[in-house]
Amino acid sequence: MNVSVKKPITKEQPYKICFVCLGNICRSPTAEGIFQHLVEEQGLSDYFEIDSAGTSAYHEGEAANSDSRHTAKKHGIPLHSKARQFQSPDLDYFDLILVMDDSNYANILRLASDHHEDKIGRIRNFDPDPGNGQVPDPYAGGIDGFENVFQIVKRSCKELLNELKPHIQSQP
Ligand code: 4NP
Repeated sequence: MNVSVKKPITKEQPYKICFVCLGNICRSPTAEGIFQHLVEEQGLSDYFEIDSAGTSAYHEGEAANSDSRHTAKKHGIPLHSKARQFQSPDLDYFDLILVMDDSNYANILRLASDHHEDKIGRIRNFDPDPGNGQVPDPYAGGIDGFENVFQIVKRSCKELLNELKPHIQSQP
């Protein structure tokens, strides 16, 4: 996907991204934490508003899964999310909605109107090594699954930020 940026990214109008998975406790909180970390590292936090959500309400209000938190922490990244279900108004609010797999994509599209479609994409479209395009659900698997998710999401978030940076307009 070519990233959809309709207006310059400024401190007054930060670019709003929502990462989406099924439960909002493993994959999308990892993406939110990694992207937040990258923008902070590069001094760009004022230019972005970053959130995550789940297509389900299964884990509403919960912190990120302990294996996801442990894996991210090992790489120096804290996860602070509190699970919430993605809602229709999010489609208007966010500039970019990035899902983890085809099932998330289908679920979000069901809520969307035609004019939302160009802001909905798959995170692995930004992965330099995109594999089958899915971020595998680690919830039922072992700890290796969480490290795999971390690496996929890190690669994708780095490239996403590289593609967004030229749209940042800093005021003198
Ligand atoms: P996530 O993982 O979508 O990456 O947060 C899952 C978490 C919970 C469930 C499925 C996937 N669940 O079925 O409860």
